[in-house]
Amino acid sequence: METAAKTQTKKKPNASGMTGKMKNSEFHEFFVDELKDIYWAEKHLVKALPKMKKAATSPELAAAFEKHTGETQTHIETLEKVFALLDEKPVAKKCDAMAGLLEEANGMIEDTKEGTMVRDAGLILAAQKVEHYEIGTYGTLRTFAECMGHTEVVNLLQQTLDNEKATDIVLTEVAVASINSAAAAE
Ligand SMILES: [Fe+2]
Ligand SMILES: [Fe+2]
Repeated sequence: METAAKTQTKKKPNASGMTGKMKNSEFHEFFVDELKDIYWAEKHLVKALPKMKKAATSPELAAAFEKHTGETQTHIETLEKVFALLDEKPVAKKCDAMAGLLEEANGMIEDTKEGTMVRDAGLILAAQKVEHYEIGTYGTLRTFAECMGHTEVVNLLQQTLDNEKATDIVLTEVAVASINSAAAAE
Protein backbone atom coordinates (compact mmCIF):
# COMPACT_ATOMS: atom_id res chain seq x y z
CA MET A 1 0.00 0.00 0.00
CA GLU A 2 1.35 3.41 -0.99
CA THR A 3 1.73 6.12 1.59
CA ALA A 4 0.39 9.59 0.90
CA ALA A 5 3.96 10.92 0.86
CA LYS A 6 4.97 8.45 -1.87
CA THR A 7 1.93 9.35 -3.96
CA GLN A 8 2.80 13.02 -3.74
CA THR A 9 6.39 12.50 -4.92
CA LYS A 10 5.02 10.87 -8.08
CA LYS A 11 3.48 14.16 -9.27
CA LYS A 12 6.18 15.90 -11.27
CA PRO A 13 5.54 19.61 -11.74
CA ASN A 14 5.98 21.00 -15.26
CA ALA A 15 7.77 24.25 -16.18
CA SER A 16 5.09 26.42 -14.59
CA GLY A 17 5.27 24.46 -11.35
CA MET A 18 1.97 22.77 -12.14
CA THR A 19 1.20 19.11 -11.73
CA GLY A 20 -0.82 17.32 -14.38
CA LYS A 21 -3.51 16.56 -11.85
CA MET A 22 -3.77 20.21 -10.82
CA LYS A 23 -4.13 21.41 -14.40
CA ASN A 24 -7.20 19.23 -14.91
CA SER A 25 -8.70 19.90 -11.53
CA GLU A 26 -11.95 21.75 -11.12
CA PHE A 27 -10.20 24.33 -8.95
CA HIS A 28 -7.66 25.02 -11.69
CA GLU A 29 -10.44 25.43 -14.27
CA PHE A 30 -12.25 27.76 -11.91
CA PHE A 31 -9.06 29.77 -11.33
CA VAL A 32 -8.48 30.17 -15.09
CA ASP A 33 -12.11 31.18 -15.57
CA GLU A 34 -11.75 33.93 -12.98
CA LEU A 35 -8.55 35.12 -14.67
CA LYS A 36 -10.56 35.44 -17.89
CA ASP A 37 -13.12 37.50 -15.99
CA ILE A 38 -10.58 40.02 -14.61
CA TYR A 39 -8.90 40.08 -18.06
CA TRP A 40 -12.21 41.30 -19.55
CA ALA A 41 -12.54 43.79 -16.68
CA GLU A 42 -9.07 45.30 -17.27
CA LYS A 43 -9.58 45.47 -21.03
CA HIS A 44 -12.78 47.46 -20.59
CA LEU A 45 -11.38 49.63 -17.82
CA VAL A 46 -8.47 50.72 -20.02
CA LYS A 47 -11.04 52.09 -22.51
CA ALA A 48 -13.15 53.80 -19.81
CA LEU A 49 -10.31 55.59 -17.97
CA PRO A 50 -9.54 58.09 -20.79
CA LYS A 51 -13.24 59.08 -20.77
CA MET A 52 -13.04 59.61 -17.00
CA LYS A 53 -9.88 61.68 -17.49
CA LYS A 54 -11.65 63.84 -20.08
CA ALA A 55 -14.62 64.34 -17.76
CA ALA A 56 -12.50 65.33 -14.72
CA THR A 57 -12.43 68.96 -13.58
CA SER A 58 -9.18 69.08 -11.62
CA PRO A 59 -5.81 68.54 -13.35
CA GLU A 60 -4.68 66.35 -10.41
CA LEU A 61 -7.53 63.91 -10.93
CA ALA A 62 -7.06 63.94 -14.70
CA ALA A 63 -3.36 63.12 -14.17
CA ALA A 64 -4.23 60.28 -11.78
CA PHE A 65 -6.59 58.76 -14.38
CA GLU A 66 -3.99 59.14 -17.11
CA LYS A 67 -1.35 57.42 -14.98
CA HIS A 68 -3.69 54.56 -14.16
CA THR A 69 -4.57 54.10 -17.83
CA GLY A 70 -0.92 53.18 -18.50
CA GLU A 71 -0.83 51.00 -15.39
CA THR A 72 -4.02 49.22 -16.45
CA GLN A 73 -2.40 48.44 -19.80
CA THR A 74 0.42 46.84 -17.79
CA HIS A 75 -2.16 44.83 -15.80
CA ILE A 76 -3.50 43.47 -19.10
CA GLU A 77 0.00 42.47 -20.22
CA THR A 78 0.69 40.92 -16.80
CA LEU A 79 -2.43 38.76 -17.12
CA GLU A 80 -1.24 37.68 -20.58
CA LYS A 81 2.01 36.54 -18.96
CA VAL A 82 -0.03 34.65 -16.34
CA PHE A 83 -2.04 32.86 -19.06
CA ALA A 84 1.22 31.93 -20.84
CA LEU A 85 2.73 30.55 -17.63
CA LEU A 86 -0.37 28.43 -17.11
CA ASP A 87 -0.31 27.32 -20.75
CA GLU A 88 -3.77 28.81 -21.29
CA LYS A 89 -5.10 31.12 -24.03
CA PRO A 90 -5.75 34.74 -22.95
CA VAL A 91 -9.51 34.84 -23.46
CA ALA A 92 -11.69 37.63 -22.04
CA LYS A 93 -14.95 36.54 -20.43
CA LYS A 94 -17.54 39.18 -19.63
CA CYS A 95 -17.24 40.49 -16.08
CA ASP A 96 -20.72 41.62 -15.01
CA ALA A 97 -19.32 43.43 -11.97
CA MET A 98 -16.93 45.63 -13.99
CA ALA A 99 -19.63 46.22 -16.63
CA GLY A 100 -21.87 47.52 -13.84
CA LEU A 101 -19.16 49.62 -12.21
CA LEU A 102 -18.29 51.27 -15.53
CA GLU A 103 -21.96 51.92 -16.20
CA GLU A 104 -22.07 53.61 -12.81
CA ALA A 105 -19.00 55.72 -13.69
CA ASN A 106 -20.82 56.85 -16.83
CA GLY A 107 -23.83 57.72 -14.69
CA MET A 108 -21.63 59.90 -12.46
CA ILE A 109 -20.67 61.93 -15.53
CA GLU A 110 -24.29 62.22 -16.70
CA ASP A 111 -25.58 63.19 -13.26
CA THR A 112 -23.00 65.93 -12.51
CA LYS A 113 -22.23 69.26 -14.15
CA GLU A 114 -19.12 69.71 -16.25
CA GLY A 115 -16.39 71.79 -14.61
CA THR A 116 -17.55 71.13 -11.04
CA MET A 117 -15.78 69.51 -8.11
CA VAL A 118 -18.94 67.51 -7.39
CA ARG A 119 -18.22 65.84 -10.75
CA ASP A 120 -14.70 64.97 -9.54
CA ALA A 121 -15.94 63.72 -6.17
CA GLY A 122 -18.34 61.44 -8.07
CA LEU A 123 -15.61 60.24 -10.43
CA ILE A 124 -13.37 59.39 -7.47
CA LEU A 125 -16.21 57.46 -5.84
CA ALA A 126 -16.72 55.46 -9.05
CA ALA A 127 -12.98 54.89 -9.49
CA GLN A 128 -12.48 53.74 -5.90
CA LYS A 129 -15.31 51.21 -6.28
CA VAL A 130 -13.42 49.86 -9.31
CA GLU A 131 -10.11 49.75 -7.43
CA HIS A 132 -11.67 47.93 -4.48
CA TYR A 133 -13.20 45.39 -6.84
CA GLU A 134 -9.77 44.81 -8.38
CA ILE A 135 -8.09 44.60 -4.96
CA GLY A 136 -10.57 41.93 -3.84
CA THR A 137 -10.17 39.99 -7.08
CA TYR A 138 -6.37 40.06 -7.29
CA GLY A 139 -5.98 39.31 -3.58
CA THR A 140 -8.09 36.17 -3.86
CA LEU A 141 -6.57 35.03 -7.18
CA ARG A 142 -3.07 35.54 -5.76
CA THR A 143 -3.99 33.33 -2.80
CA PHE A 144 -5.47 30.66 -5.13
CA ALA A 145 -2.20 30.67 -7.13
CA GLU A 146 -0.24 30.33 -3.89
CA CYS A 147 -2.36 27.35 -2.89
CA MET A 148 -1.71 25.68 -6.27
CA GLY A 149 2.03 26.34 -6.09
CA HIS A 150 2.25 28.71 -9.08
CA THR A 151 5.03 30.83 -7.62
CA GLU A 152 5.67 33.02 -10.68
CA VAL A 153 1.96 33.66 -11.09
CA VAL A 154 1.75 34.65 -7.41
CA ASN A 155 4.48 37.25 -7.93
CA LEU A 156 2.81 38.71 -11.03
CA LEU A 157 -0.62 38.95 -9.39
CA GLN A 158 0.97 40.48 -6.29
CA GLN A 159 2.58 43.23 -8.42
CA THR A 160 -0.80 44.17 -9.87
CA LEU A 161 -2.45 43.97 -6.45
CA ASP A 162 0.16 46.36 -5.01
CA ASN A 163 -0.46 48.81 -7.86
CA GLU A 164 -4.25 48.72 -7.36
CA LYS A 165 -3.78 49.44 -3.64
CA ALA A 166 -1.40 52.33 -4.40
CA THR A 167 -3.94 53.76 -6.88
CA ASP A 168 -6.69 53.61 -4.28
CA ILE A 169 -4.48 55.55 -1.83
CA VAL A 170 -3.67 58.21 -4.48
CA LEU A 171 -7.40 58.68 -5.15
CA THR A 172 -8.09 59.12 -1.43
CA GLU A 173 -5.28 61.67 -1.18
CA VAL A 174 -6.58 63.69 -4.14
CA ALA A 175 -10.10 63.66 -2.68
CA VAL A 176 -9.08 64.63 0.85
CA ALA A 177 -6.46 67.23 -0.16
CA SER A 178 -8.83 69.42 -2.16
CA ILE A 179 -11.70 67.93 -4.11
CA ASN A 180 -14.12 67.02 -1.32
CA SER A 181 -13.89 70.40 0.42
CA ALA A 182 -14.14 72.24 -2.92
CA ALA A 183 -17.26 70.16 -3.76
CA ALA A 184 -18.76 71.03 -0.38
CA ALA A 185 -18.18 74.75 -1.07
CA GLU A 186 -19.86 74.72 -4.50
FE1 LIG B 1 -6.07 46.87 -12.90
FE1 LIG C 1 -7.07 49.60 -11.19
